[in-house]
Amino acid sequence: MALAKVSEILKMADRGNTSIIAFNSSDFNMIHSVFTVAEELNKPALVMLDPRHAALWGWGTPEIYAHMAIEEAKKVKVPVSFHLDHCMDFDFIMRAIKAGFPSVMYDGSMLSYAENVKNTSEVARVAHAMGVDVEAELGHVGFAADKDEDDNDLYTKVEVAARFCEESKCDSLAIAIGTAHGFYKKTPKLDLQRLKDINAATDTPLVLHGGSGVPDDQLVQAFTMGINKFNVGTEYFHLYYQTVKEYVAAGNEAIFDMQMLVQERLQAYLREKMQLCRL
Ligand code: 13P
Repeated sequence: MALAKVSEILKMADRGNTSIIAFNSSDFNMIHSVFTVAEELNKPALVMLDPRHAALWGWGTPEIYAHMAIEEAKKVKVPVSFHLDHCMDFDFIMRAIKAGFPSVMYDGSMLSYAENVKNTSEVARVAHAMGVDVEAELGHVGFAADKDEDDNDLYTKVEVAARFCEESKCDSLAIAIGTAHGFYKKTPKLDLQRLKDINAATDTPLVLHGGSGVPDDQLVQAFTMGINKFNVGTEYFHLYYQTVKEYVAAGNEAIFDMQMLVQERLQAYLREKMQLCRL
């Protein structure tokens, strides 16, 4: 059984001067594909539940998700794990922890510094008592659709990042350096100097959100400058959707073959993407 602590996987990435990749995944096809390719390539990887998928849209529950991820992790030898992505709801975080999530994100990035520290440290206090890791966010990554790419007001400030990690007791920190969630209106340009400075100011592993559409050459640099966890969602979901759409448009009647094709396409994408992780 290869279910590992997320903080241990991030330490491996840090020692290897690279990043592991965490994929937003909502169902069996997505989770199974990530762990299958991780095993094939012998690279640690994570799957993440977006709480909106479970709580708002009813695509599943943390209990079902944890069960699926734990069972799938038993099939592989390479360290893999799962994580609750962006959550602001303390009760939902507690529910996920009780369900067996080894790692959760408390996202207080839209709050004041003081409130973000207060809430993150409260989550960390309870989570750590149960052996669970906590990711926090400082600065605000936001959505590509709402974003003015040239506006860096919400980027993480170097001088507060180290203080935040110390005060909040988070195990990893998501930082804003020019990425955004969803499809970009124009190619993002990461503020790598800011990343370098934040990394020099703190030992806490750094996380890059908004991974879909960030050019590989920028990612390779970011991974050697302190990013140890890299989140991807939109392009993985989009590929799933495109595959089903094409399958149906081609007039295929063999309904049971659709899942096979979905897994084949997802795994081909993952095989490419996971090469970015140099472990
Ligand atoms: P994208 O959906 O833009 O790839 O971002 C994923 C993410 O950061 C999840 O936290």
